[in-house]
Amino acid sequence: MLIHIRELFNHYDSSIAYPAFNTQNLETTLGIIQASNELDTPVIVATSEGTAAYAGLETIAAIVKTAACRSKAGVVLHFDHGKDIRHLERAIELGYSSVMIDHSHLPFEENARDTRRMVELAHAKGVWVQGEIGRMRGTEDWVSVSEAQALLTEPDDAFRFYWATGVDTLACSVGTVHGIIKMRGGVKPHVDIPRIRAIHDRVKIPLVLHGASGVDPDTIHLAIAGGISIINIDTELRMAFSNALRASAEIDPREIDPRRIMKPVAQAVKEVAMAKIRQFGGGRHRAAA
Ligand code: G3H
Ligand code: 13P
Ligand code: ZN
Repeated sequence: MLIHIRELFNHYDSSIAYPAFNTQNLETTLGIIQASNELDTPVIVATSEGTAAYAGLETIAAIVKTAACRSKAGVVLHFDHGKDIRHLERAIELGYSSVMIDHSHLPFEENARDTRRMVELAHAKGVWVQGEIGRMRGTEDWVSVSEAQALLTEPDDAFRFYWATGVDTLACSVGTVHGIIKMRGGVKPHVDIPRIRAIHDRVKIPLVLHGASGVDPDTIHLAIAGGISIINIDTELRMAFSNALRASAEIDPREIDPRRIMKPVAQAVKEVAMAKIRQFGGGRHRAAA
């Protein structure tokens, strides 16, 4: 079933973090939801402006909502890295319970002003808003952020931003990097655990770790212990998808049934999603059963 993001935090066990997995298509969505079912752990399924441009927001939202009907553990529909408030308003109309406004490329006051406006619009409809303070390296939607511009989140700024905006969840820049670049050795991410702790001491709402593909399990564990409650994964699912697709297409070059070609692709996504859910502390209920 589709659930509101607030349900994740009604009885939150802070030793776990919920995964926010990006999807672009049917097979990725199926893989994520099968993983969630198998481990009896709710997941956040995220779609971006790029995916809305590719598939149509109505289409991708309908795919996630319909696939969520088969979910036992619960699926939260989230809009990731929204730059344009009109897209986020449309997402709210379509049933998203969580939207991220990412105006982190703007100066503090402008980011806070736009985020506050989004919070007012979303809260009037009972929807949660994620804001971002600080800037991350890598590629965020169409905006490239060079290393020189990178700006880690100052705990005091996070506190001021939270009070100025009323956001429900907060993305912070703590050293991770978006996209494939770090998986290919282009940049070396680190995770600044003391910074996470310092932000968590000041801001008592769920903190979100973006760019978490490729972060090792020990560091993930420390980040969760430091106060991270949501962890965003896109790149590792994309890698699983693309590698499995290439392999599957090669098995029998005469195969023309898309279902036969795509089934191992959804399975590969599912396996990575399950590994992440376990790494983030989920799946214990199922393991103990
Ligand atoms: O952090 C951003 C996500 O990986 C979304 O990427 O805009 O290419 O869909 P995208
Ligand atoms: P990765 O590119 O590391 O998977 O990060 C995804 C993300 O932050 C989506 O918002
Ligand atoms: Zn992100």
